[in-house]
Amino acid sequence: MKTKIAVAQGDGIGPEIMEAVLKIFAANDVQLEYEYVEMGKSYFDAGHSTGMTVAAKQTIEELGILFKGPMETPKGKGVKSINVTARKVWNTYANQRDFRTLNGVETVFSKAGIPINLTIIRENIEDTYGGIEHMLTYDVAVGRRIITRPGSAQVIRYAFEMARRKGYTKLACGHKANIMKLTDGLFLETFQEIAKEYPDIQSSDIIVDDLCMKLVTQPQKFQAIVLTNLQGDIVSDLCAGLVGGLGFAPSANIGDNISIFEAVHGTAPDIMGKGIANPTALLLSGILMLRYMGFTENAATIENALLYTLERGIHTGDFGNKSIPAATTIGFADAIIANLGQVPSDGGVTGKSNVEIKTGLHHHLKKNKLTVTRGIKEEMVGVDVFVEAGDLQPAELAELAKKRLTDNFDLVMISNRGTQVWPTGSIYTELVNEYRVRFEKKPGKTITQKELLHIAADFSEDVKVCSVEFLMKFGGKIGYTLAQGQ
Ligand code: NAI
Repeated sequence: MKTKIAVAQGDGIGPEIMEAVLKIFAANDVQLEYEYVEMGKSYFDAGHSTGMTVAAKQTIEELGILFKGPMETPKGKGVKSINVTARKVWNTYANQRDFRTLNGVETVFSKAGIPINLTIIRENIEDTYGGIEHMLTYDVAVGRRIITRPGSAQVIRYAFEMARRKGYTKLACGHKANIMKLTDGLFLETFQEIAKEYPDIQSSDIIVDDLCMKLVTQPQKFQAIVLTNLQGDIVSDLCAGLVGGLGFAPSANIGDNISIFEAVHGTAPDIMGKGIANPTALLLSGILMLRYMGFTENAATIENALLYTLERGIHTGDFGNKSIPAATTIGFADAIIANLGQVPSDGGVTGKSNVEIKTGLHHHLKKNKLTVTRGIKEEMVGVDVFVEAGDLQPAELAELAKKRLTDNFDLVMISNRGTQVWPTGSIYTELVNEYRVRFEKKPGKTITQKELLHIAADFSEDVKVCSVEFLMKFGGKIGYTLAQGQ
């Protein structure tokens, strides 16, 4: 019996490359059946604010696998990217991108004889991709960067499991915890905790800027790297560049219930309708999907045929040896079909190698899944009040803040753009019109959240309060950062 999946052809070159890929699947007798869903630009234009019809959403939630072409996000209509929304709404928390040297795709590394074979696992839901941003004053915008313990654990565990399945011996965590001590710190701490469960995988961590340098100078040293969302986004495009560009970058968005497989590139409006687009990235994504679903023999046969075809110098117009005429999209697919059963010169892959596991399909949920860590002692110890203070200098603002103190509190510090400017600071620190004013409870006092809110409310009589953040301790450890210079 065939397994049914949802297919969205996408916009621009989407239908052309999807047709090519499904033609290859059919030629290899892949036992999949396709239910085409209505998603993409024309559905935004028709008034569907999410870019998909209700029926499309239902079908995808029912079938659990979406194979999609690239989709255009209409500009300037206040709509969010359908690609990002789909990943977030369906909690496809792990974005896996495999990068490897492909014979026939020339890069500086292939010319130097340095083979690349690495996987980036990018957290797909959290971080700045929540898009929670506010203008606090006319001059100051802030964005919330959300990193959670369950969200980090989910993707990190996936990365270790994937490393084990692929027979990798090591997994690195890329981060910037030296600067973002609590957000990246939480991601790194979770990585180090989970690493203890995988003693067979050598775990290490690397600061993301150092990682970028080493990826460019010694990419062969890495097997798999797990990162938070934005850093993972940037690093994975860097890796696409190492192996020949976005035209060769597949991507799997893996969740426990729904998974989405798509190429990394966009709709290529400049070449749409010409029949010349390169279907390789979508085909590689389809191969990831076949493995994920357990069709490992099909995945291996098609991958070998693709690699063999590339080795023979057959190419679309966007890459390859210009002395060999470029194939059309369908011509390229036909060449792969003609080569089904062939293996590339390195012996290729077998149905057994790189086996992914068929997991999580058809888990129908009745309630939203909610994960909470309990049993940690927590204490509220103060509040940061973010204020717009006009032309006030730090000492003047401190005098106003002191008026709001009760017996329970101290005024601890004032910072501007994260740098302490009161009680000590430098006259050379430049100021913008948004300060953070920190009130902490005095030792031995017990305070309530209402008292903290009162301080902010009272303070608003003197200055505009933009926002408040409470200062918490969890298990005795402070859950907020100190100001630079504090
Ligand atoms: P793009 O990836 O569509 O195009 C960049 C350049 O690469 C163009 O010159 C294009 O012709 C070329 N190119 C891309 N894919 C190709 C292929 N398969 N074969 C041959 N050449 C290819 O990026 P751009 O122009 O920034 O974005 C265009 C649209 O795509 C936008 O509306 C954007 O929102 C959307 N987009 C959608 C994505 C998705 O659905 N996951 C991802 C990225 C962009």
